[in-house]
Amino acid sequence: MSNNNRKILVTSALPYANGAIHLGHMLEYIQTDIWVRFQKQRGHNCTYVCADDAHGTPIMLKADQLGISPQQLIDQSSEEHQRDFKAFMVGFDNFYSTHSEENREFSSMIYNRLRNAGHIAKKTITQAYDPEKKMFLPDRFVKGDCPKCNEKDQYGDSCEKCGATYSPTELKNAYSAISGAKPIEKESEHYFFKLGNFEQFLRQWVDTHVQEQMKNKLNEWFDSGLHDWDISRDAPYWGFEIPDAPGKYFYVWLDAPVGYMASFKNWCDKNDTDFDEYWKADSSTELYHFIGKDIAYFHSLFWPAMLEGAGLRKPNGVFCHGFVTVEGKKMSKSRGTFVMAETYLKHLRPEYLRYYYAAKLNSGIDDIDLNLEDFRLRVNADLVNKVINIASRCAGFIKKKFDGQLSAKLSEPALFQAAADKGVQIAEYYENREFGKAMREIMAIADQANQYIDNAEPWVLAKQEGKEQQVQDCCSMGINLFRVICAYLAPVLPQVAEDAQQFLNVDNFDWDQIGQPLLDHKINKFKPLMQRVEEAKVNAIIVDSKQNMQVVQQASKAPTKTPLQQQPIAETIEFADFAKVDLRIVKIINAEHVKGADKLLRLTLDLDGETRNVFAGIKSAYKPEELVGKHTVMVANLATRTMKFGDSEGMVLAAGPGGEDIWILEPHTGAKPGMRVS
Ligand code: 2FM
Ligand code: ZN
Repeated sequence: MSNNNRKILVTSALPYANGAIHLGHMLEYIQTDIWVRFQKQRGHNCTYVCADDAHGTPIMLKADQLGISPQQLIDQSSEEHQRDFKAFMVGFDNFYSTHSEENREFSSMIYNRLRNAGHIAKKTITQAYDPEKKMFLPDRFVKGDCPKCNEKDQYGDSCEKCGATYSPTELKNAYSAISGAKPIEKESEHYFFKLGNFEQFLRQWVDTHVQEQMKNKLNEWFDSGLHDWDISRDAPYWGFEIPDAPGKYFYVWLDAPVGYMASFKNWCDKNDTDFDEYWKADSSTELYHFIGKDIAYFHSLFWPAMLEGAGLRKPNGVFCHGFVTVEGKKMSKSRGTFVMAETYLKHLRPEYLRYYYAAKLNSGIDDIDLNLEDFRLRVNADLVNKVINIASRCAGFIKKKFDGQLSAKLSEPALFQAAADKGVQIAEYYENREFGKAMREIMAIADQANQYIDNAEPWVLAKQEGKEQQVQDCCSMGINLFRVICAYLAPVLPQVAEDAQQFLNVDNFDWDQIGQPLLDHKINKFKPLMQRVEEAKVNAIIVDSKQNMQVVQQASKAPTKTPLQQQPIAETIEFADFAKVDLRIVKIINAEHVKGADKLLRLTLDLDGETRNVFAGIKSAYKPEELVGKHTVMVANLATRTMKFGDSEGMVLAAGPGGEDIWILEPHTGAKPGMRVS
């Protein structure tokens, strides 16, 4: 592989369009983004694409639950996802959607090629079917008692209590998680991709394209046999209809990886780039997928086999990473460690986390632990106390005493050269995704720079007569080392790098220029480039995350008709918990339909002078005009929830099984807005 101006296409896994981005997701996007920024800084032609993974049953059902169309749901997710990625400085060249014309075309093209080459089979299978909702149920949507240990409310594929795996038909007292109805078994014809046809190709491909740790896992899969893969789903399904099979749709995992191609094609069309040069079978460009280890099966078996069968290029590498744990444990909603990207960003700047993840990342698949105390101490020690400190110690003297002018020569050329020479090793670490090792090398340079300044003592020299030149020289030396360090950190800390360039009065940190010192060069005024991470802010993230989860859980309760015995009573709460709920009488002063919402009405509530805007899912039961003037009861201290249609500032209480049978609570006639309900 030539090292000059490589053409590289990079992807991160496509996030599902029915959930918010959290810090677990961010590990991968940060890892990929650092790698991409590094390649760009090296002068390579590197393109980073991603998209929302927009199809599938969960997205269809979630939209249904929210009373919006799947298109509205995916538009909303796309906006939120892109907002979070941008805030974390993830620099996609293109962020698209799998629900696009490009993707429909590529998915169909690949399917047609596979079918024509004899890699598709049709088989009739029996599946659980919801007779009320009139749809086949994916395993996760059938619930019931575990066939092994009898634990109630287990999913159709595995038991969370005893770990048994089984098929949904084995569950006892099975019910549909969507309608509560008892599922029946029903036959249907499905389309399968004959993965076994690619065994020989895959064994070879895996041997040279995946990490060692993953190879062992993949070999287990080979040993248990490569089974035909079911790639079709019956209507109703949110996805692409299979070209020669009306009423049958591509399973979401068929068109998801094709989404990488579609997003890139969309970018090529806007940027005058030859798509085929990248995707033809004998392409000399490079393609890398960054993914979590949980989806290796799709990316290391199905996807290369699909590409091979369709006569397209295969990836040069599939880079798996581990999961994020917080304080050594799985991220947890109740502990407040299931932190959304948005929540983190309310309190802390993104680069703290980018640096912490970088410092912990390597090329393996072990989990990465986010220890909050370690996070704070490490960022403060490395970035604030070591790196930024170099500039703060030197900049003032250069600005005040020498009008921003750096010396014409380096006082310690060997020290500078040693720092510049480390670029070879650091680049190798970045290239091989050994970011933790790269960070350690960079911090070692920062230690040397600080030692140099400690020894030179410019603050002492500055008070002595006739030592001006020495002050200028040693501070210029410090600033030059600072520049090298910032350039090495640029893939990890894009904003710090940009601000440092402004301070240093340079317009890039190109890798091949790092060894050129700034001599006789004027720098700008120094502004602190990073503040310390405060403990209170880290704590606030956890408190906020706990609160958010409570709101999300309440909001996402499905309006199902599940019988009570199948919907167990929630965990007991103490009276003190209940007393926190502030129930108030309110008068409905306005009620109206919400454009684009099938289930919601917008209510304007008078709470004795204060008005609240609340969205209530009661459209099926009330006409807006019937509500105006009525009194009802609201939860007045519920955290505001931002919905697509606006903020919902509370919740009105209603009861009933659903549909037309929902009744808002109507207090007796003496009720006055603002009165507390006890
Ligand atoms: O596991 C997931 O979150 C999937 N949405 C990843 C898809 S990656 C690619 F294949 F599209
Ligand atoms: Zn069990």
